[in-house]
Amino acid sequence: MLKNDLLLKALKGEKVDRPPVWMMRQAGRYLPDYQKLRAKYSFFERCQNPELATEITLQPVEQIGVDAAIIFSDILVIPQAMGMEVQLIPGKGPLLPKPIKTAADTEILHIHDITDRLHYVFEALSLTKKTLDGQVPLIGFAGAPWTLFCYMIQGKGSKSFDEARAFLYKNPVLSHQIFDKITKATISYLKEQIKAGADCVQLFDSWSGMLSPAMFQQFSLHYNQKIITALSEYCPTILFAKGAWYGLEEMSRMPVNALGIDWKINPQLARKLTGNTITLQGNLDPAILLSSIPNIKNEAQKMIKSFGKERYIANLGHGILPNVPVDHARAFVDEVKSY
Ligand code: CP3
Repeated sequence: MLKNDLLLKALKGEKVDRPPVWMMRQAGRYLPDYQKLRAKYSFFERCQNPELATEITLQPVEQIGVDAAIIFSDILVIPQAMGMEVQLIPGKGPLLPKPIKTAADTEILHIHDITDRLHYVFEALSLTKKTLDGQVPLIGFAGAPWTLFCYMIQGKGSKSFDEARAFLYKNPVLSHQIFDKITKATISYLKEQIKAGADCVQLFDSWSGMLSPAMFQQFSLHYNQKIITALSEYCPTILFAKGAWYGLEEMSRMPVNALGIDWKINPQLARKLTGNTITLQGNLDPAILLSSIPNIKNEAQKMIKSFGKERYIANLGHGILPNVPVDHARAFVDEVKSY
């Protein structure tokens, strides 16, 4: 039994006294206790050791007081489990030294044993669920196919992912084959996360805003819809397609429980585009957490007033920045909780 089920209530559109609050990327670099573990273990050691992953997942629940835990892992564990080498270079970010360039490069991609290769994520979820002991719900997650494709083709982070976009135009048939594989792997992976204890799941399409509306339809929305539809009978789902405000209307017709939005759209327009019916999650500009505490509180209040307290999950418009002072993150969360 959950002692705090505000997030699940908001996802189901049920009445709440105040909106739930959590922060994307809440388990991470702005926390001094995370930094201590970071100095001792490599990134993938932290992901692959269920005790470490559990400890990191619980840090923001215990230290910041958020209304949900999100399992500590990464979206890039899928390309890794599909057979690609993935490195995390401290200070630089992800590196896939052998990105996909040709059809022959896709032969290494295999998905039949994907859930065996990711057993450590399910162990981390089970252990976290047990350790949480019902304090707050546990969120599972995966990267959306387009966002994973960006890294698999480009081989590293990018401001525009132009090589990944060019690949779609140059190799549409091969692109769809790759998207099919990622989609199938992601569905099995998320179903297994739910079995292991995730109370709901979020799909992160961090780079959907890089696509033209037409390409967004074909390569982001289409595959995200498949994943959301496949999971909708098992648990509540959240879709965060960053930058794709033009797709909100269509996304709101998916069997999805909530849509995440970034800070570049105002709450009134987001409500209007989604027909005022669906739960929205977001959308504080993450940079606001670098301003003064009185300003953070003021902005948090304004945001809740604009969205309204029902069908709303307070969050940032993207991940928390690594240089945010811990007391600023706490001020944001406390302000929502005092609403
Ligand atoms: O939300 C959480 O706290 C749970 C854990 C989580 C991580 N990554 C841990 C992590 C989640 C949900 C992610 C998702 C993720 N990973 C996304 C989608 C969300 C987003 O922010 O857009 C993306 C695009 C990635 C890929 C990735 N992983 C990048 C670009 C980086 C390096 C830079 C960065 O953003 O931190 C990572 C590494 C990573 N994943 C870290 C953490 C805590 C930092 C590792 C470190 O240096 O200690």
